[in-house]
Amino acid sequence: MLKNKFVVLGVTGSIAAYKSADLVRLLKKRGARVQVIMTKSACKFVKPLTFQVLSQNPVITDMFREPYRWEVEHVALADSADIILVAPATANIIAKIAAGIADDILTATILATRAKVVIAPAMNVHMYENPITQKNIEYLKGLGIKVLEPEEGPLACGYTGRGRFPAAEDIINILEELVGKAQDLKGRTFLITAGPTREPIDPIRYISNHSSGKMGYSLAHKAIIRGARVILVSGPTNITPPAGLYKFVPVETAIQMEKAVLENFNQADVVIKAAAVADYRPKKFNPEKIKKKDDEMIVELVKNPDILQELGKKKQNQVLVGFAAETDKPEKNALEKLKRKNLDFIVLNDVTQEGAGFGSDTNIVKIIYKDGRSEALPRMLKEDVADDILDRVLPFLTENG
Ligand code: PMT
Repeated sequence: MLKNKFVVLGVTGSIAAYKSADLVRLLKKRGARVQVIMTKSACKFVKPLTFQVLSQNPVITDMFREPYRWEVEHVALADSADIILVAPATANIIAKIAAGIADDILTATILATRAKVVIAPAMNVHMYENPITQKNIEYLKGLGIKVLEPEEGPLACGYTGRGRFPAAEDIINILEELVGKAQDLKGRTFLITAGPTREPIDPIRYISNHSSGKMGYSLAHKAIIRGARVILVSGPTNITPPAGLYKFVPVETAIQMEKAVLENFNQADVVIKAAAVADYRPKKFNPEKIKKKDDEMIVELVKNPDILQELGKKKQNQVLVGFAAETDKPEKNALEKLKRKNLDFIVLNDVTQEGAGFGSDTNIVKIIYKDGRSEALPRMLKEDVADDILDRVLPFLTENG
């Protein structure tokens, strides 16, 4: 699974730095391309030459060295990495990443990357258990960074406790799990909706909402990476559609979205409706710009079709996933929608919480299943929420054959 994957391995100043040499050996054995970055302190514990020989690649230790290619090195690494693994990670590097500091090539690369970041802490037990380190770790986990649990046992500092570097094999297994999802949706067709709808009043004005499309586009992007054939039906957004879509259908209004969704429904194995569809539209479209006259103006509205509810009625063996953006009695309202629309599960975002719902890069969601189970996920990047939602779709696909 790691074959041809580009792993950037950051080695920091822990006594466990020498153990990373074994990680490089195993990564190479599995066919990964490895670029090692060492911090200054790491170089005090192990010589870069060890990693250079094992990775068959010069080790990067300095942000300002002469590059051998004409590119901004940390950005080029950040862009091309499939995974950035920091192992061993000291309390210091964890604190720097959490604070957004970018004062060396490793921290700058991490700050610039969109790739999955994995951190394997190794340190003295008291440093690990210190509330400052724990707060930093929790914060990083909330951002979607994978922080591994160190092992318990005798430590190099003489203490016994949690802080030991995990076995290299275990770290490799976790990396494989992360990239191994890559093709688990192959052969499946996903119909995903994203963004708002716009309901025109006249040629100038419309009724809409704050959906940016980020949640739906993240779902489409992740489903493509995992091998699915993806049809994205999108209301107006400022986002470039992800590369590799099977079909992109831009729409404006709820009626247009309904048409596009119904046309593509029969070929879909999974439908995920992340779009924020306007529930009402102006009864009459005024072909000319409405002139300002009285103090009050009344726009009469009529109900739009509930697209997801229609799909719920037509559903045969498709997996149906809805979203609910709620501000009051979130669970009660989401549950009502789940039942009325005949969904397999609904993703509830309580849009009153900071970092959840419309516009932000992160979301805080609760997944409520048709059998009454529910799972609350922490605040995560929408890209990672998307992956977690796709993980939850998989068992339904298997169930439906
Ligand atoms: O786009 P972002 O800025 O990233 O924000 C993401 C989001 C907040 C828009 C998204 O996570 C979300 O919650 N989308 C659904 C918002 C919503 O309008 O929920 P709803 O409670 O009105 O609708 C429930 C479900 O029915 C949704 O899946 C919706 O797509 C669907 N629906 C609603 C009305 C309608 N007429 N037709 C529908 O299909």
